[in-house]
Amino acid sequence: MKSFYITTAIDYVNGSPHLGHAYEKVLTDVIARFRRMMGDQVHFLTGVDEHGQKVQASARKRGIPPQQFCDEVSQEFRALLPKLNISNDDFIRTTEERHKKVVRQVLQQLFEKGDIYKAEYKGFYSTRQEQFLQEKDRNPDGSWPEIFGDVTEITETNYFFKLRQYQDWLIEFLTKTPDFVFPKYRQTQVLEFLKEPLNDLCISRPRERLEWGIPLPFDEDYVTYVWFDALINYYSAVAELPGVWPATYHVIGKDILVPPHAVYWPIMLHAANIPLPKGIVAHGWWLQRGAKMSKSTGNALNPLDLVTEFGADAFRYFLIREMNVGQDSDFTREQFLVRYNSELANNLGNLVNRTLNMTTRFAGGAVPEAGLAGELEKSLQDLWAKTRDEFIPLCENFQFHLALERAMVFLTETNAYIEKRAPWKLGKSTEAADQEALRTSLATMAEALRLAVALIQHVIPSATEKINAVLGYTPGKVWRDELVWDARLAGSKVAPSLVLFPRPEPPKPPAGAAKPAPAKKG
Ligand code: MSP
Repeated sequence: MKSFYITTAIDYVNGSPHLGHAYEKVLTDVIARFRRMMGDQVHFLTGVDEHGQKVQASARKRGIPPQQFCDEVSQEFRALLPKLNISNDDFIRTTEERHKKVVRQVLQQLFEKGDIYKAEYKGFYSTRQEQFLQEKDRNPDGSWPEIFGDVTEITETNYFFKLRQYQDWLIEFLTKTPDFVFPKYRQTQVLEFLKEPLNDLCISRPRERLEWGIPLPFDEDYVTYVWFDALINYYSAVAELPGVWPATYHVIGKDILVPPHAVYWPIMLHAANIPLPKGIVAHGWWLQRGAKMSKSTGNALNPLDLVTEFGADAFRYFLIREMNVGQDSDFTREQFLVRYNSELANNLGNLVNRTLNMTTRFAGGAVPEAGLAGELEKSLQDLWAKTRDEFIPLCENFQFHLALERAMVFLTETNAYIEKRAPWKLGKSTEAADQEALRTSLATMAEALRLAVALIQHVIPSATEKINAVLGYTPGKVWRDELVWDARLAGSKVAPSLVLFPRPEPPKPPAGAAKPAPAKKG
């Protein structure tokens, strides 16, 4: 089996999870489940980033030790995963011993190699962003942009990693590996960034200024800072699992691609003689009215509210159907409801209802054997073959929104087939030909439903499992074999009904508003 190791970014624990965090988990889960369907041996890691100034400050504000603060907030992130039906194999916290040990090993190795050196740094420092600034960060009028808050000039001795020394290597590597970053246009941006000379990376903070970090193994007066700690999680989590590293993909947001994941990380690995991952998938942002959803701007949606209202499947479906991986997307409740009603409740929900209902009414609850396929059946089967053949490469290339669109077209056409065949009319006739057509139509709709369900099970795992159960069907082990149109449902006993995507309650009218007129009869 091919090993496939996939990771999400690890979230900062200085605030609660929001829709952006949830999306990344869902996207990575959809990729992980798809690769399992394709037969890969998948290892899926997610987790939390617990060290640093912000966590230390948030804990102080609450008057509790940072470890206790991390324990509480990390639990919130961890608890979100089962609610979203995420199939991760592991969850890493950067305060765990297994992580700290590897970070210190890598630091020691690079120090001994001469890639880490101590130097005095004199310059401008932003406390809000916790970063040293450069001249190019200034506004044209010489002032510092608002986002940096208070900027002070400081002199401090720190440790630096020789990033600059590896710049040419990285350029060559990226040129030889054109699909290291997905989407491709983002790789072009990385190369653009590398046209300017890199500065060596400051990787430490004096302990008197920051307690909450991993002490440098070669100088305990310092802790390692931010990226050297966080990025190594991908490797530390599996360092003791044979055959998992190198990672296949790191799934991250576009804000942490350049420079952390596309510049620091490959250089760190290369310098430490560790094999590089196959690639990085950089997704876009969920926006609200054009602004990035984030805790600091106060426009973050709580993913759990939507999951409670509509269920994890509907939530997952919307995120994957709506977002073209790499680009940004605006989140609106209206658009959520449009997709929910037209695609899940109408297209899929109706097909399920009709199949169960008509099989129960006209065939005693057992899927009949199909008779000879007519033109209508043949054209639906042709559409199936085309849908399936297009679907797989789309998923392989992270085009899940298009893959789902294809699956929806197939469901729409299946519903249209039922309209044309009108089994309810055939059911009234006693003619042998009509009876055969009835059996064929019932078998066809059940088979089309089974196939559509097999296609989209990585996106809506729980609903598809329920549908298989009411069809009396247990899928086989080899997913690709499931995608063949045949008669394997013949004789299967179906349940009489299943409520999958109930219509959401209409919003309550504001108090005092006029009551709507009663619906006319007839
Ligand atoms: N801790 C760092 C990552 C270290 S990875 C070695 C971090 N944490 S974060 O909590 O700020 O963000 C975690 C992930 O969520 C990032 O990949 C980020 O891009 C993603 N998102 C945060 N807000 C987002 C949206 N509004 N939309 C989509 N994803 C965004 O960065």
